[in-house]
Amino acid sequence: MYILAIESSCDETSVSIIKGGKEEIATVVLSQMDTHANYGGVVPEIASRMHIENITLVIEEALKKANMTMDDIDAIAVTYGPGLIGSLLIGLMAAKTLAFAYKKHLIPVHHIAGHIYANNLVKRLEFPLIALVISGGHTDLIYMKEDYSFEKLGGTLDDAVGEAYDKVARVINVPYPGGPLVDKLAHQGQDTYNLPLPLDDDSYNFSFSGLKSAVINLVHNEKQRGNEIIPENMATSFQNRVVEILTKKTMKALKEYDVKNLIVAGGVAANKGLRERLTKECNENGINLTIPEIKYCTDNAAMIGAAGYYAYKLGRRADLSLNAKASERLK
Ligand code: KG4
Ligand code: ZN
Repeated sequence: MYILAIESSCDETSVSIIKGGKEEIATVVLSQMDTHANYGGVVPEIASRMHIENITLVIEEALKKANMTMDDIDAIAVTYGPGLIGSLLIGLMAAKTLAFAYKKHLIPVHHIAGHIYANNLVKRLEFPLIALVISGGHTDLIYMKEDYSFEKLGGTLDDAVGEAYDKVARVINVPYPGGPLVDKLAHQGQDTYNLPLPLDDDSYNFSFSGLKSAVINLVHNEKQRGNEIIPENMATSFQNRVVEILTKKTMKALKEYDVKNLIVAGGVAANKGLRERLTKECNENGINLTIPEIKYCTDNAAMIGAAGYYAYKLGRRADLSLNAKASERLK
């Protein structure tokens, strides 16, 4: 079964053709990052306009790359939420138009289900598993006993981890996109700043706003004394706390739920420090760890096609009344 998948929830216009939920035939990702970098972050209005300009071209390009036509496609999968409403609407309208014009099934895909199923492109998911979902909008620990069964064990009470990275980046004068650059700096510095380990309790919840404020306060205090902070060392200190708490709570969940499979998903899964630490902990504890290649960690349509296949197998379909949802619970 061939699915044509569309993802446009933020600032990437992406279309992919996926066979049977795990084989990538062709993917095109058009990132708007350079444009938004001029503003220090994603400008929703600009993002929507760029999706409109590009969506048809990206669909055509993906089909061309796959050497296929719409006749070869069995169904259309699309991210309907959560995300920027204007951005979501463009991909959704394109998907509905294709489904209507070519009489194909329309499969609604939750963006986070997509991030989770990015791992299915690496290796068929093995259940039960724990998924650590870390992106610009999410920080969730999820227990899955089978396909499309999502039991949330905990999540962030305030900022998402990627959001904290992006805000800390701004404070230490690292340009947009903050996350990857802070990660890079963290590998060049030392852990010299006294930052707290955030929400170090027995729950599976996270909190990153206090840690972010601690960075801001330190930077301001040093400035008032006429000193400058060392960005590399601040990046290392911040990243060490983030990696420590994510690893600690994830390993605890694996133990408590007696689960041997861990998957990591979302843009922050690209983080080198976290990948290294989780690999080491999982090796030591006999856990099978799967983390997608970096290109499948950040937003892409291949992951939507993978998730869409399993949604389809479970009978999930949408009709043309499907609407975009800026916020939506994973289900
Ligand atoms: O999943 P994603 O592409 O978009 C959302 O659905 O949010 O994630 C983007 C987030 C941004 O906050 C970005 O700074 C962060 O992922 N990110 C990273 C790294 N690469 C991307 N954060 C830390 N280290 C990285 N290497
Ligand atoms: Zn995402």
